[in-house]
Amino acid sequence: LISKDLEGKKILISAGPTREAIDPVRYISNRSSGKMGYEIARAAEYRGAEVTLVSGPVNLDVPVGVDCISVTSVDEMAEAVFSRMETADAVIKVAAVADYRPKNRAEHKIKKKSHDMTIELDKNIDILKELGKRKTHQVLVGFAAETQSLAENARKKIEAKNLDMIVGNLVGDPRSGFGTDTNIVTFFHPDGRKEPFESMGKDQVAHELLDRVVGLMKVRG
Ligand code: PMT
Repeated sequence: LISKDLEGKKILISAGPTREAIDPVRYISNRSSGKMGYEIARAAEYRGAEVTLVSGPVNLDVPVGVDCISVTSVDEMAEAVFSRMETADAVIKVAAVADYRPKNRAEHKIKKKSHDMTIELDKNIDILKELGKRKTHQVLVGFAAETQSLAENARKKIEAKNLDMIVGNLVGDPRSGFGTDTNIVTFFHPDGRKEPFESMGKDQVAHELLDRVVGLMKVRG
Protein backbone atom coordinates (compact mmCIF):
# COMPACT_ATOMS: atom_id res chain seq x y z
CA LEU A 1 0.00 0.00 0.00
CA ILE A 2 1.34 3.42 -0.92
CA SER A 3 1.11 6.19 1.67
CA LYS A 4 -0.21 9.68 1.03
CA ASP A 5 3.34 11.01 1.08
CA LEU A 6 2.51 13.88 -1.29
CA GLU A 7 -0.30 15.27 0.84
CA GLY A 8 -0.25 19.09 0.78
CA LYS A 9 2.20 19.21 -2.15
CA LYS A 10 1.54 20.87 -5.49
CA ILE A 11 2.86 19.02 -8.50
CA LEU A 12 2.91 20.50 -12.00
CA ILE A 13 3.27 18.00 -14.85
CA SER A 14 3.47 18.53 -18.61
CA ALA A 15 2.59 15.68 -20.94
CA GLY A 16 1.96 14.77 -24.55
CA PRO A 17 3.21 16.34 -27.77
CA THR A 18 2.94 19.89 -29.03
CA ARG A 19 1.67 20.78 -32.49
CA GLU A 20 3.12 23.57 -34.59
CA ALA A 21 0.82 24.69 -37.38
CA ILE A 22 2.02 24.86 -40.98
CA ASP A 23 -1.38 25.97 -42.29
CA PRO A 24 -4.97 25.49 -41.05
CA VAL A 25 -4.90 21.76 -41.86
CA ARG A 26 -1.28 20.65 -41.27
CA TYR A 27 1.16 20.63 -38.39
CA ILE A 28 4.54 19.38 -37.15
CA SER A 29 4.37 17.11 -34.11
CA ASN A 30 5.78 13.88 -32.65
CA ARG A 31 4.70 10.44 -31.46
CA SER A 32 4.05 11.19 -27.77
CA SER A 33 0.76 9.62 -26.61
CA GLY A 34 0.79 11.32 -23.21
CA LYS A 35 0.69 7.97 -21.37
CA MET A 36 3.87 8.50 -19.32
CA GLY A 37 2.86 11.96 -18.10
CA TYR A 38 -0.73 10.94 -17.37
CA GLU A 39 0.49 7.97 -15.28
CA ILE A 40 2.64 10.33 -13.22
CA ALA A 41 -0.34 12.64 -12.75
CA ARG A 42 -2.53 9.71 -11.68
CA ALA A 43 0.10 8.38 -9.27
CA ALA A 44 0.79 11.81 -7.72
CA GLU A 45 -2.93 12.41 -7.16
CA TYR A 46 -3.24 8.96 -5.59
CA ARG A 47 -0.42 9.84 -3.21
CA GLY A 48 -2.27 12.95 -2.06
CA ALA A 49 -0.79 15.72 -4.22
CA GLU A 50 -2.69 18.58 -5.77
CA VAL A 51 -1.91 17.89 -9.41
CA THR A 52 -2.00 20.23 -12.40
CA LEU A 53 -1.46 18.60 -15.76
CA VAL A 54 -0.58 20.76 -18.75
CA SER A 55 -1.35 18.53 -21.68
CA GLY A 56 -0.76 18.64 -25.40
CA PRO A 57 -3.35 17.01 -27.68
CA VAL A 58 -3.78 13.33 -26.67
CA ASN A 59 -6.54 10.70 -26.63
CA LEU A 60 -6.53 9.91 -22.92
CA ASP A 61 -8.99 10.44 -20.09
CA VAL A 62 -7.80 12.91 -17.48
CA PRO A 63 -7.22 11.01 -14.20
CA VAL A 64 -9.90 11.70 -11.59
CA GLY A 65 -8.98 14.56 -9.28
CA VAL A 66 -6.38 16.03 -11.64
CA ASP A 67 -6.72 19.59 -12.93
CA CYS A 68 -5.95 19.51 -16.66
CA ILE A 69 -5.09 22.47 -18.88
CA SER A 70 -5.19 21.60 -22.57
CA VAL A 71 -2.71 23.29 -24.87
CA THR A 72 -1.63 22.83 -28.48
CA SER A 73 1.52 24.75 -29.38
CA VAL A 74 4.84 25.24 -27.59
CA ASP A 75 3.97 28.86 -26.84
CA GLU A 76 0.70 27.84 -25.20
CA MET A 77 2.47 25.15 -23.18
CA ALA A 78 5.17 27.58 -22.10
CA GLU A 79 2.62 30.16 -20.95
CA ALA A 80 0.58 27.54 -19.03
CA VAL A 81 3.67 26.15 -17.30
CA PHE A 82 5.39 29.46 -16.47
CA SER A 83 2.23 30.95 -14.96
CA ARG A 84 1.90 27.95 -12.59
CA MET A 85 5.49 27.21 -11.65
CA GLU A 86 5.85 29.61 -8.73
CA THR A 87 3.33 27.89 -6.49
CA ALA A 88 4.45 24.36 -7.42
CA ASP A 89 6.59 22.23 -5.10
CA ALA A 90 7.73 20.08 -8.00
CA VAL A 91 7.63 20.42 -11.79
CA ILE A 92 7.92 17.29 -13.93
CA LYS A 93 8.36 17.89 -17.66
CA VAL A 94 7.37 14.76 -19.54
CA ALA A 95 6.02 16.54 -22.61
CA ALA A 96 7.67 15.99 -25.97
CA VAL A 97 8.03 19.61 -26.97
CA ALA A 98 8.68 20.54 -30.60
CA ASP A 99 12.12 22.13 -30.88
CA TYR A 100 11.18 23.95 -34.10
CA ARG A 101 8.11 25.54 -35.63
CA PRO A 102 7.32 26.76 -39.16
CA LYS A 103 8.62 30.29 -39.65
CA ASN A 104 5.37 31.30 -41.34
CA ARG A 105 1.93 29.91 -40.61
CA ALA A 106 -0.09 30.12 -43.82
CA GLU A 107 -3.52 31.64 -43.35
CA HIS A 108 -5.06 29.35 -45.98
CA LYS A 109 -4.40 25.75 -46.94
CA ILE A 110 -1.19 25.55 -48.97
CA LYS A 111 -1.99 24.28 -52.45
CA LYS A 112 -0.12 21.49 -54.17
CA LYS A 113 2.43 22.78 -56.64
CA SER A 114 4.24 21.24 -59.59
CA HIS A 115 7.63 21.64 -57.85
CA ASP A 116 9.18 20.59 -54.52
CA MET A 117 8.83 22.89 -51.57
CA THR A 118 10.72 23.72 -48.38
CA ILE A 119 9.39 24.65 -44.96
CA GLU A 120 11.60 27.04 -43.04
CA LEU A 121 11.72 26.49 -39.29
CA ASP A 122 12.33 28.79 -36.33
CA LYS A 123 13.80 27.51 -33.07
CA ASN A 124 11.30 27.25 -30.20
CA ILE A 125 11.84 28.26 -26.62
CA ASP A 126 13.20 25.47 -24.38
CA ILE A 127 10.59 25.50 -21.62
CA LEU A 128 12.56 23.28 -19.27
CA LYS A 129 15.76 25.28 -19.63
CA GLU A 130 13.85 28.44 -18.77
CA LEU A 131 12.32 26.69 -15.73
CA GLY A 132 15.83 25.76 -14.66
CA LYS A 133 16.82 29.43 -14.73
CA ARG A 134 13.73 30.60 -12.86
CA LYS A 135 13.48 27.89 -10.21
CA THR A 136 13.68 28.81 -6.54
CA HIS A 137 12.41 26.09 -4.19
CA GLN A 138 10.93 23.73 -6.79
CA VAL A 139 12.15 20.20 -7.42
CA LEU A 140 12.67 20.14 -11.18
CA VAL A 141 12.59 16.87 -13.10
CA GLY A 142 13.08 16.47 -16.85
CA PHE A 143 12.92 13.61 -19.29
CA ALA A 144 15.35 12.85 -22.10
CA ALA A 145 14.09 10.77 -24.99
CA GLU A 146 17.08 9.28 -26.80
CA THR A 147 17.70 6.65 -29.44
CA GLN A 148 21.43 6.54 -28.67
CA SER A 149 24.07 7.71 -26.15
CA LEU A 150 21.41 7.88 -23.42
CA ALA A 151 23.76 8.54 -20.50
CA GLU A 152 25.86 11.14 -22.28
CA ASN A 153 22.87 13.10 -23.57
CA ALA A 154 20.95 12.86 -20.28
CA ARG A 155 23.95 14.16 -18.32
CA LYS A 156 24.35 17.10 -20.67
CA LYS A 157 20.68 18.01 -20.26
CA ILE A 158 20.68 17.72 -16.45
CA GLU A 159 23.44 20.33 -16.32
CA ALA A 160 22.30 22.60 -19.14
CA LYS A 161 18.76 22.78 -17.72
CA ASN A 162 19.68 22.96 -14.01
CA LEU A 163 17.63 19.87 -13.07
CA ASP A 164 17.36 17.92 -9.81
CA MET A 165 16.95 14.69 -11.76
CA ILE A 166 16.47 13.52 -15.33
CA VAL A 167 14.75 10.39 -16.58
CA GLY A 168 16.66 8.94 -19.50
CA ASN A 169 14.12 7.29 -21.74
CA LEU A 170 15.23 4.81 -24.38
CA VAL A 171 13.08 5.20 -27.47
CA GLY A 172 12.94 2.92 -30.48
CA ASP A 173 12.50 -0.31 -28.46
CA PRO A 174 9.01 -1.91 -28.66
CA ARG A 175 8.85 -2.04 -24.83
CA SER A 176 9.78 1.57 -24.33
CA GLY A 177 9.14 5.18 -25.26
CA PHE A 178 6.35 6.63 -27.35
CA GLY A 179 2.86 5.11 -27.16
CA THR A 180 3.77 1.97 -25.18
CA ASP A 181 2.32 0.91 -21.80
CA THR A 182 5.78 -0.10 -20.57
CA ASN A 183 8.99 1.88 -20.44
CA ILE A 184 12.73 1.41 -20.05
CA VAL A 185 14.27 4.27 -18.09
CA THR A 186 17.39 5.28 -16.17
CA PHE A 187 17.29 7.95 -13.48
CA PHE A 188 20.30 10.29 -13.58
CA HIS A 189 21.19 12.48 -10.59
CA PRO A 190 23.30 15.67 -10.55
CA ASP A 191 25.95 13.99 -8.35
CA GLY A 192 26.64 11.43 -11.07
CA ARG A 193 24.62 8.55 -9.60
CA LYS A 194 22.44 6.60 -12.01
CA GLU A 195 19.67 4.09 -11.47
CA PRO A 196 18.89 1.87 -14.45
CA PHE A 197 15.61 -0.09 -14.51
CA GLU A 198 14.34 -3.07 -16.48
CA SER A 199 11.21 -2.67 -18.59
CA MET A 200 8.24 -1.88 -16.33
CA GLY A 201 4.74 -0.41 -16.55
CA LYS A 202 4.55 3.35 -16.96
CA ASP A 203 2.48 3.35 -13.74
CA GLN A 204 5.42 1.71 -11.96
CA VAL A 205 7.89 4.17 -13.48
CA ALA A 206 5.63 6.93 -12.16
CA HIS A 207 5.78 5.64 -8.59
CA GLU A 208 9.56 5.08 -8.70
CA LEU A 209 9.98 8.66 -9.95
CA LEU A 210 7.67 10.08 -7.29
CA ASP A 211 9.61 8.19 -4.58
CA ARG A 212 12.69 10.19 -5.68
CA VAL A 213 10.72 13.44 -5.82
CA VAL A 214 9.48 12.89 -2.24
CA GLY A 215 13.10 12.31 -1.17
CA LEU A 216 14.29 15.49 -2.90
CA MET A 217 11.50 17.52 -1.28
CA LYS A 218 12.51 16.23 2.17
CA VAL A 219 16.11 17.30 1.62
CA ARG A 220 14.85 20.73 0.59
CA GLY A 221 12.76 20.93 3.79
O1 PMT B 1 3.83 10.20 -24.11
P1 PMT B 1 4.29 8.77 -24.24
O2 PMT B 1 3.80 8.13 -25.52
O3 PMT B 1 3.94 7.95 -23.03
O4 PMT B 1 5.89 8.77 -24.35
C1 PMT B 1 6.66 9.19 -23.27
C2 PMT B 1 7.87 10.04 -23.72
C3 PMT B 1 8.83 9.18 -24.51
C4 PMT B 1 7.41 11.22 -24.55
C5 PMT B 1 8.50 10.57 -22.39
O5 PMT B 1 8.83 9.52 -21.55
C6 PMT B 1 9.75 11.41 -22.66
O6 PMT B 1 10.85 10.93 -22.79
N1 PMT B 1 9.53 12.74 -22.71
C7 PMT B 1 10.53 13.75 -23.08
C8 PMT B 1 10.55 13.86 -24.56
C9 PMT B 1 11.49 14.93 -25.05
O7 PMT B 1 11.06 15.85 -25.69
O8 PMT B 1 12.74 14.80 -24.71
P2 PMT B 1 13.92 15.82 -25.12
O9 PMT B 1 15.16 15.08 -24.81
O10 PMT B 1 13.71 16.37 -26.50
O11 PMT B 1 13.73 17.03 -24.10
C10 PMT B 1 14.36 17.07 -22.85
C11 PMT B 1 13.51 17.75 -21.82
O12 PMT B 1 13.36 19.15 -22.16
C12 PMT B 1 12.10 17.20 -21.68
O13 PMT B 1 11.75 17.20 -20.30
C13 PMT B 1 11.23 18.19 -22.46
O14 PMT B 1 9.92 18.29 -21.91
C14 PMT B 1 12.00 19.49 -22.30
N2 PMT B 1 11.89 20.42 -23.46
C15 PMT B 1 12.43 20.09 -24.67
C16 PMT B 1 12.39 20.99 -25.72
C17 PMT B 1 11.75 22.24 -25.54
N3 PMT B 1 11.67 23.12 -26.52
N4 PMT B 1 11.22 22.55 -24.34
C18 PMT B 1 11.28 21.66 -23.29
O15 PMT B 1 10.79 21.95 -22.19
